[in-house]
Amino acid sequence: MKKLVILFVILAFLAGISCSREKAFSKIDLSGSWKFRTGDNLAWSKPDYSDSSWKEIKPGTIWEYQGYKKYDGFAWYRIRVNIPSAIQKNSAEKDSIQFLLGKIDDCDQVFLNGEMIGENGKTMYDNVPVTDEFTKVPDKWNVSRRYVLPVNDPRIKWNGENVIAVRVFDQAGAGGMFAKPFEISMVGLKDHVLFDFTSFAFKYLDDNHLQKDFTIINKSGKGDYNGNLSFTVFSYLNGNKLFEKEFPVTLKNGNKSTFSFSFKIDPQTQAYALVAFKENKSGQSVTEKLEVPYILTPKVSLEPRINSARIFGVRPWSPFQFKVAATGQAPLTYMADNLPDGLKIDGTNGIITGVLKQKGDYEVILKVRNSLGMATQNFKIKVGSTISLTPPMGWNSWNCWGLSVSDAKVRSSADYMKSSGLIDHGWTYINIDDGWEYQHDQDGNILTNSKFPDMKALCDYIHSIGLKIGIYSSPGTKTCGGYEGSYTFEDKDAAAYARWGIDYLKYDWCSYGSIAPNPNTEQMKHPYLVMEKALRAVNRDIHYSLCQYGMGDVWTWGASVDGNSWRTTGDIEDTWESMSTIGFSQGKCSPYSTPGRWNDPDMLVVGWVGWGPSLHNTGLTPNEQYTHITLWSLLSAPLLIGCDLSQLDPFTLNLLTNDEVNAIDQDPLGRQAKQSIANAEYQIWIKDLEDGSKAIGLFNLTENPLNIPVDLKPLNLPGRYSMRDLWRQKNLGQAETHFEMNVMPHGTVLLKLQKIK
Ligand code: GAL
Repeated sequence: MKKLVILFVILAFLAGISCSREKAFSKIDLSGSWKFRTGDNLAWSKPDYSDSSWKEIKPGTIWEYQGYKKYDGFAWYRIRVNIPSAIQKNSAEKDSIQFLLGKIDDCDQVFLNGEMIGENGKTMYDNVPVTDEFTKVPDKWNVSRRYVLPVNDPRIKWNGENVIAVRVFDQAGAGGMFAKPFEISMVGLKDHVLFDFTSFAFKYLDDNHLQKDFTIINKSGKGDYNGNLSFTVFSYLNGNKLFEKEFPVTLKNGNKSTFSFSFKIDPQTQAYALVAFKENKSGQSVTEKLEVPYILTPKVSLEPRINSARIFGVRPWSPFQFKVAATGQAPLTYMADNLPDGLKIDGTNGIITGVLKQKGDYEVILKVRNSLGMATQNFKIKVGSTISLTPPMGWNSWNCWGLSVSDAKVRSSADYMKSSGLIDHGWTYINIDDGWEYQHDQDGNILTNSKFPDMKALCDYIHSIGLKIGIYSSPGTKTCGGYEGSYTFEDKDAAAYARWGIDYLKYDWCSYGSIAPNPNTEQMKHPYLVMEKALRAVNRDIHYSLCQYGMGDVWTWGASVDGNSWRTTGDIEDTWESMSTIGFSQGKCSPYSTPGRWNDPDMLVVGWVGWGPSLHNTGLTPNEQYTHITLWSLLSAPLLIGCDLSQLDPFTLNLLTNDEVNAIDQDPLGRQAKQSIANAEYQIWIKDLEDGSKAIGLFNLTENPLNIPVDLKPLNLPGRYSMRDLWRQKNLGQAETHFEMNVMPHGTVLLKLQKIK
C-alpha cells in the first residue's frame, strides 16, 4: 500500500512537471516587466541598443498608473526574450508564431530585432498636430494587437535572445500598453475557433431555467473540425458542478454554428460555465469562461414606496415638471403636502407641474397611497439658480442607436421606460444624441432631418408620460457624426430647444477643434460660455452637459461655465478595460462633485448596445455590470442607460431598479466617493451620505473570487457600525475594527455603514 502511495506521488510529481513544462513551453509570457522611456528615436528599435538606464514598466496597465501621469506623445517599450524551438515542437500546428501585445493606446509599431513586424494606428484629432505619417492611420486604440509571423521568418532568432521594441504614440488621455494577453505563442486551434457569447443574452425560462445560445465560428480555412462541445456550470461559492452536458459537433469550415444549452439554477446563484470544444484529430481544445447572470435586487414590494430624488432645483419662472416615482400595487394615488402656490400634482400619475416665481426653499411631503398602505417622503424644492441637484437619470440614444436614431426609436424608448417600470424608479430623461440635425435655414433656425419630422410633438409626447427630453449639438460647425453644429447659431438653437420643450443639452466639442486648435483653458471655456449665455436667455431649465472628453481637467472649471455635468473621459465601450479604466480613474475628480455639478464618466454600457443599427448584448460580465452600476452610483455620476430598452431582460432590469443602490447615486449631499484603497487586487471607495452614513464599495479586480479585508480605523471609521448589503437590501449585523467580504471576480459588494451611537 505504502509503495503504491509513493508510486502515485512520484507519478503525480512527474505529471506535474510534464504539465508545467508543456505549459512553460507552449507560450512565452510577456506580462512581466518591460523597459520603458518616453520620447522617440528609431535607434531604440535596434537589438544592440542598451536600454539598461530605462525604467521598468508593466505592460497590462496604462503608463498614467505607473508614474507617467498626463504624459501624451511618443514612448518606447522594450523586452528581451528567448524564443525556444520547444514551443513549436509542443504545438499541434507548426506553421505560424504570434506576438500578442494586449491593446495599445493609441498607436504602435512593433519591431523584432530591429525590424518592423507590424503596426496599428490612429487618426489624429483636428486639434493635435500630426507628427508624422505613423500617427495618421485609422483609430485602433481598443483593438487587440496580434502580429503573426511564419516560423521561418528570418527576423526570429530561435533559441536565442530576441528584442521586441514597441514604439507607441499616444494622442491624448490614457497611454501605452494595456489589457492582455502579453505573450508569444504558436497559432493553434484557439485562434481558429472563436466563441461569440454576445449575439444572444441569457434567456429566463419558467421554473428557474436559464437558456444560453451562442455561436462558434471555424475560421481556420483548414477544413471542418470534428470534436465534442461541453458546457459545464460551476458554483463560485463551493466549486460544485451544477450542470454538465457534452455532445459531438462538427464545426464547418468558414461557418458560424449556433448552440443552445438550458439548465436549472436558482436566480441568485453566483456561477460560471466553462464552454469547451475539443477537436478529435489534434486533441487540442479551446475553453472559454462564461459568467451566469444572477439577480440580487429583491422583488418590488406591493406596498407603496417612493423612489424619486429627495431634492429638486428649479429657476424662478421656468416651467416646472417633476414626476414622483413610486412603486407598489396599482392603482397608486399621489399627493403632496405643503406644495407651494403655483404648483399642482396630478393624483393619478404623480406629475407635478406649474411655475414658481420666487427664489427660496420649500419643504414638501410626498405621499403615495394604495389599498395596502401609504408611503411618505420629504421632498425639498429649491428655487434658485442651480438645477439638477441630483445626477440626471435617464436614457441616451448613442450607445445603442448611434447615428441611426429616429423619432420612432425615441418614442418607443419612452414607452418602454414606462412599461418596463423604470420610470417608477426615478429614470427620467430620454436623450437624443447625435443624428437628428439637418441644417440652419435662411433665418438661422435649425431644421431637423427627415428622421425627426416634428420635434415639438415629440417633446410634448415625452412630457405627457412624465419624462423629460434631451438633445445634442456641438459648438463647432459640425458634430462628431458630421451633422450640423451650433457654431454662430447658438442663440437661435437655444431658442429652438426652448420652443420645442427640450430639458437637457449635451454639447460636444467635436469640430470646434478646428476653430480652436491647441486651446488653453480660456479658449476651452469660450464656446461653452457662449452657449451658456444663450441657454440662460431662454425661459426653460435645460440641464447643460459638457462633452469634451475631460480636456484641460474640465472638472476644475465646468462649474464656472455653469455646466451641470461634464464628461471626464473619452467614449466608454462595453469592455472591462474600458469601463474599469474610466471608472477607477475618477478619484481625481471627486472634490469637484457637488449638487448641480456632476462628473460624467460617460453612459452605461449594460443591456443591448452597439452604436448603430446592429446591437449585441454587453461584453461586460454580470459581475462587471454590478461593478459598473455600483461605481457610477458611488461617483454620483449621471446614470444614462445606453441600451435598447425594448430588449431589457430580467437581469438588466434588476440591475437598474435597485432603489437602495440608485439612492446612493441620488443622495442629496451630492458628494462623490473617494478612492480610499487601490492596489493590484482590489479597491475600496467610500462616499459620505446626507444622513451621516457611508456607502462603501468593495471591488475585486482579479479574475477569481477574493476575500477583501476592510480595516475600519485606517479608513477613518472608528467605532461600531450597523452594516447593510445594498444590492441584497439585507442587514448584515454590526461591524467594528475589521471585517472581510467575499467578492466575485471583477465584482463588487456595496455596503451602507451607519454609526451606532
Ligand atoms: C462623441 C461623444 C459620444 C457621442 C458622439 C456622437 O464625441 O463622446 O458620446 O455623443 O460623439 O457623434
